[in-house]
Amino acid sequence: MSIQQTESFIRPTRSLTGRVAIVSGAGAAGDGIGNGRASAILLAEAGCSVVCTDIQQDLAQRTVDMVEKDGKGKAIAVGADATKEEDCRKAIKAAIEQFGRLDIRMNETSQRIDQHD
Ligand SMILES: NC(=O)c1ccc[n+]([C@@H]2O[C@H](COP(=O)([O-])OP(=O)(O)OC[C@H]3O[C@@H](n4cnc5c(N)ncnc54)[C@H](O)[C@@H]3O)[C@@H](O)[C@H]2O)c1
Repeated sequence: MSIQQTESFIRPTRSLTGRVAIVSGAGAAGDGIGNGRASAILLAEAGCSVVCTDIQQDLAQRTVDMVEKDGKGKAIAVGADATKEEDCRKAIKAAIEQFGRLDIRMNETSQRIDQHD
């Protein structure tokens, strides 16, 4: 049986246009492509605004530069340690202040949370 759209059941959109995402671990060494950097670039390409966070802000900024070079979506870099509550709050604040909302949260850090102090 197929799922039909009716007046009482309208499937939600899966479009990412206008959505806002935080990607932690959005950097990668040099021009390399890690999971976080790839996620940030693809989310932006799909129309998301992306807060790229990394414990090394320069690596997150490199990802932002790549998004801007592609010319699709918006991105900002925030230096933040995903294991630290105050840094996570800083990233959320940046999303709300810069883009007005938060829809998606991805963690792609290379560091296990339970290995951290
Ligand atoms: N690359 C792969 O093929 C692959 C496959 C399966 C799973 N994974 C897992 O995916 C995760 C990411 O791997 P990757 O290859 O993309 O790593 P990567 O090293 O390319 O990028 C990870 C980024 O996370 C940042 N980071 C580390 N600790 C952080 C923290 N506490 N807060 C914020 N940023 C932090 C690093 O500075 C780095 O820029 C890892 O957990 C890895 O085990 C990777």
